Amino acid sequence: MAEMKLHSEAAVGARYGRPADPCAIVIFGASGDLTKRLLVPALYNLACDGLLPRNFALVGTALSDMDHESFRDQMSKDIRQFTTRDAFDERVWDDLVRCLYYVPGNFEDPATYRRLAQLLDEVDAKHQTRGNHLFYLAVPPVVFSLISRQLGQARLTDEEKGWSRLVVEKPFGHDFESAVSLDGDLRQHWQEHQIWRIDHYLGKETVQNLLTFRFGNGIFEPLWNRHHIDHVQLTAAEKIGVEGRGNYYERAGILRDMIQNHMLQMLSYIAMEAPTSFHADDIRNGKIEVLKAIRPLTPEGVLTNTVRGQYSGGTVDGNVVLGYREEPDVSQTSHTETFAAAKLFVDNWRWAGVPFYLRSGKRLPKRSTEVTIQFKGAPEVLFRDTPVERLEANKLLFHIQPDEGIELSFQAKVPGPILHLQTVRMHFEYKAAFETTRGTGYERLLYDCMIKDPTLFSRADLVEIAWKIAQPILDVWSSLPPRDFPNYPAGTWGPRDAALLMERDGLEWRNP
Ligand code: BG6
Repeated sequence: MAEMKLHSEAAVGARYGRPADPCAIVIFGASGDLTKRLLVPALYNLACDGLLPRNFALVGTALSDMDHESFRDQMSKDIRQFTTRDAFDERVWDDLVRCLYYVPGNFEDPATYRRLAQLLDEVDAKHQTRGNHLFYLAVPPVVFSLISRQLGQARLTDEEKGWSRLVVEKPFGHDFESAVSLDGDLRQHWQEHQIWRIDHYLGKETVQNLLTFRFGNGIFEPLWNRHHIDHVQLTAAEKIGVEGRGNYYERAGILRDMIQNHMLQMLSYIAMEAPTSFHADDIRNGKIEVLKAIRPLTPEGVLTNTVRGQYSGGTVDGNVVLGYREEPDVSQTSHTETFAAAKLFVDNWRWAGVPFYLRSGKRLPKRSTEVTIQFKGAPEVLFRDTPVERLEANKLLFHIQPDEGIELSFQAKVPGPILHLQTVRMHFEYKAAFETTRGTGYERLLYDCMIKDPTLFSRADLVEIAWKIAQPILDVWSSLPPRDFPNYPAGTWGPRDAALLMERDGLEWRNP
């Protein structure tokens, strides 16, 4: 029996938990980017940490003409390029690579699934994976329904021998209607508990820590409401452009690509009520409740409370870069937005009247995802007769990435005989506080799926509510094509209207 030998399993097990349950993972799209850049490096990291099951196999499937050996060779090359670890552990990889298999095939052809089913029988017997199968769709969304149906017809969805789970990458639908229809397609062959909708932002430690921070500390939660918080800002800024993904991006745009999913997930963690427990459904219900409370934008509301942009050529880090319309596979008259900002309100008792400003953009000056909780200011009465002109209000900053950490800013007296104040900060940095190895962000998600913990995965109702929030914006934007695109040069913080959205409220974006 081929078994993986786990390194220092006891030590790691004690720290993180047990190795996951025996299973075979099948990746559809095994010759693609996601597999080599993220999925296989994540599985390798889990193996290094003793968290992959002893009884494990990975079956890749794609159109490319490879066999088991050439797939193993290719993955062995790729892992050395894409591993997130500084030191490469040959022993761990040697054990893992022996558990890799490949089935070439066309996803439309039922014979592919027959071959896959046959291989899975062999793999189950050889690796004792107990008929537990996790099917990962690392493929373009146009084939989600097709693969799901074919798996159903090949009876690979059955849970008679072991469990069978389907992991679906975003985008989950293109709008509200298509998301409902995709869900209907999947539900013809899978039950809800078998469908695992991934949002890789929830794999980020700093995102997971938002809830721990809020509910594991006594001092912040009493302040976490409209009485003490003036507004909240969420920024997901990227320096990169569309990186050769013009085809996908032309149909998506940043509202669908980042805001409808990753940013609303973060918002729900910031704004949700305390769940009854950390059990999956308590957390997922809490997120849904808060997203349901987001005030739907009317068409007029879309015009006043949202901003869209598209980058022209410019300079990022001293390098001249192309405008979006010059990128490969992008139309020269494209109306696709590469920047979006929105002002939203969460209409519930806790947040009534507190604006949440969200923005995301490509080709901005810096890569940075952060959340700013802007508290209300202290009364200035005591400082009336002093040289202090203005008291800056406290801010709590969550640096989601990079430079992961949390920062609290406050006022301090500048040493000296005259009363001057300066904003100073208390700063917690992950890299100083914890010994961690850099991961891909997929480790926890893959692990959770193998141990059946759906907390970090989206239920169908959450996906639909998130689309309902985005839908009025999509509708107005598609019926009123932008007249000023491109409207921000690469390497700047987005269109002027994004700054105006805040200035109108007497505020400004915190640029990282
Ligand atoms: C993906 C988007 O979901 O998230 C990409 O499709 C984007 O366009 C990426 O670049 C950002 O993820 P991260 O983890 O780099 O912030």
